[in-house]
Amino acid sequence: MPNVLPLTAPELYDKLKNIKVGGSVCQYSLKKCEEYIPLVNEILRLKKEKNAVILVHSYVTPEIVYSVADYVGDSYKLSRDAMKSKARVIVFVAVRFMGETAKILNPDKEVIVPAKDPGCTLADSITAQDVQNLRKQYPDHTFMCYVNTSVEVKAECDVCVTSANVYQIVEKYPSDKIYFLPDKFMGQNLVNEMKKRGIKKDIKFWNGVCYVHEEYTAEQIFKVRSEYPDVKIVAHPECNAEVVRNSDFVGGTEQLLDYMRKTRARKFLMLTECGLSSRLQSEFPDKELVGSCSLCKYMKSNALEEILEALKSPKPSQVVKIDEPVRLRALKSLEAMFQYAEMKPSSRVCE
Ligand code: 13P
Ligand code: SF4
Repeated sequence: MPNVLPLTAPELYDKLKNIKVGGSVCQYSLKKCEEYIPLVNEILRLKKEKNAVILVHSYVTPEIVYSVADYVGDSYKLSRDAMKSKARVIVFVAVRFMGETAKILNPDKEVIVPAKDPGCTLADSITAQDVQNLRKQYPDHTFMCYVNTSVEVKAECDVCVTSANVYQIVEKYPSDKIYFLPDKFMGQNLVNEMKKRGIKKDIKFWNGVCYVHEEYTAEQIFKVRSEYPDVKIVAHPECNAEVVRNSDFVGGTEQLLDYMRKTRARKFLMLTECGLSSRLQSEFPDKELVGSCSLCKYMKSNALEEILEALKSPKPSQVVKIDEPVRLRALKSLEAMFQYAEMKPSSRVCE
């Protein structure tokens, strides 16, 4: 339901007051909320005037998540939300590849990505030319791209996946030779998971990494488990195989939140970007987090100021433009994803 009513500083503070992660980037006082409120209400007013919808990834700073967002979630849920929206303008507060996904699905809408630095180390690790070269090398393989790729790369592939559906799609896809790109850790996790499920597929993968998830180690898990025996470890599949093997639950960001919401456990080590820790603290204050927090500088390059400027008059660099032939080819990868993802819900529980 689009959020257009004016917000007050105490209402915003109420959502933010329990957030204690992320150092000064994500810690709040009523005074700080009073400073945000004029910006927030101007964004809400303009959003209505311009018939815009604001989609926000969970990794973005909490003052944005809890003030101007119409929809908050992971890349799969947000791409679904983008398709449902009747708005004329989509403001995608995340990174470029997510805005591109919204544009592929909504060619007649204006899609704006306000971030100052909307990159992603995974999406930036591979080009369309790389995929063309790989296709010559592996002519019998199905090319499967993670959603963290550019539109040009999606256009060269057969099917797209997100962290919420990757295992399910690899299992269901009618091909026993798969080239997965660009994440090498997710690629190795796929190989291990298919082995565990008794599914024989030849899976090759590219060598990209997410610079945030790459930092997590199994040693951190062992240390935390020895200090807090009742802790549950939740990890994103962009973490390495050792981390995944030693975690209690592995899934996309929305699945991780769902797991923590439903389980009776109260203490967690969360091996993913800090925005998700903020959501847990704001929405489930009785749950406790242990361990430290890592920020994605690209997701955190979104700010209320940029959202306002982009709504008033976006810079050319903030407006997503895609050549129609490329869009149509990339759309095929996304349509294949929706077809296989909606066969039945997926996630992997290793409890
Ligand atoms: P999700 O699709 O799980 O939200 O992940 C996106 C991402 O960029 C993780 O680093
Ligand atoms: Fe990309 Fe990693 Fe940031 Fe996600 S957390 S947007 S994969 S750099």
